[in-house]
Amino acid sequence: MRLIVKRFDPETGIESFNIFEVEQRPGMTVLDALFVVQDTMDDTLSFRYSCRGAVCGSCAMLIDKVPRLACRTQIADLLSGEDGPELKHYPALDPIVPLNRAEEILIEPLPHLPVIKDLVVDMEDFYRKYRSLQPLFRPEGEGPEKERLMDPSDVTKLEMFTNCILCASCYGSCPVDAEDPEYLGPAALAKLYRYHIDPREGDDISRLLLAHSPEGWWACDFHGNCRTVCPKGVPPIFAIGKAKKELESSGFRDPSGGR
Ligand code: SF4
Ligand code: FES
Repeated sequence: MRLIVKRFDPETGIESFNIFEVEQRPGMTVLDALFVVQDTMDDTLSFRYSCRGAVCGSCAMLIDKVPRLACRTQIADLLSGEDGPELKHYPALDPIVPLNRAEEILIEPLPHLPVIKDLVVDMEDFYRKYRSLQPLFRPEGEGPEKERLMDPSDVTKLEMFTNCILCASCYGSCPVDAEDPEYLGPAALAKLYRYHIDPREGDDISRLLLAHSPEGWWACDFHGNCRTVCPKGVPPIFAIGKAKKELESSGFRDPSGGR
């Protein structure tokens, strides 16, 4: 099996592709294969990881043109010949090299974020947008003596969004993020919606107004790649659609007048 890995050398500014022959083992993930390369062929290869169990979100990269977690992506699945999920087109999906899908895997850094080195991207812009939406619990009223009880059905609704691990796969898959560097992106908007529907925060729309801007809810064109690629099943497109409807029913309209 061959890994075709996009490299970026920050000292020279040169981009290149390296090909590494790796022996496939049962159960091997893309992250395992990258370790084989780093341990036995090229210890300068840079990539990010931590938990190795689809929990920390740090190993997201573009694998065979789909943003995925390297620690969760099985080599055998990629080489099975089955097509990956179909995504709405954006420039990073343009073919670079013709691939033999039965033997070769193309690994590139996550799109829409600056590359620091090889497969490591600078997440600052992603987090800046996330922080701008104040992702902190703001309970309504005085705190209870013991605890704030929640209806299990409300917990289920919240869980759809609290499962996000901030991997930025959705951000790297979004055609709007590809075009508009200021778009807040699916993950931040989904998290904002999560706080809006939290019954412990009351039921006004003040949270939604934080993203009532041309770069917020209204920038989304409902391509749906975010939901397709999310490794945790979070549906940002659903949150954005609900938020827009709620704002509209309160008299708010797209401030850019539609794009
Ligand atoms: S919504 Fe899904 S794809 Fe997006 S950052 Fe969260 S876990 Fe990753
Ligand atoms: S290493 Fe933590 S999600 Fe992959």
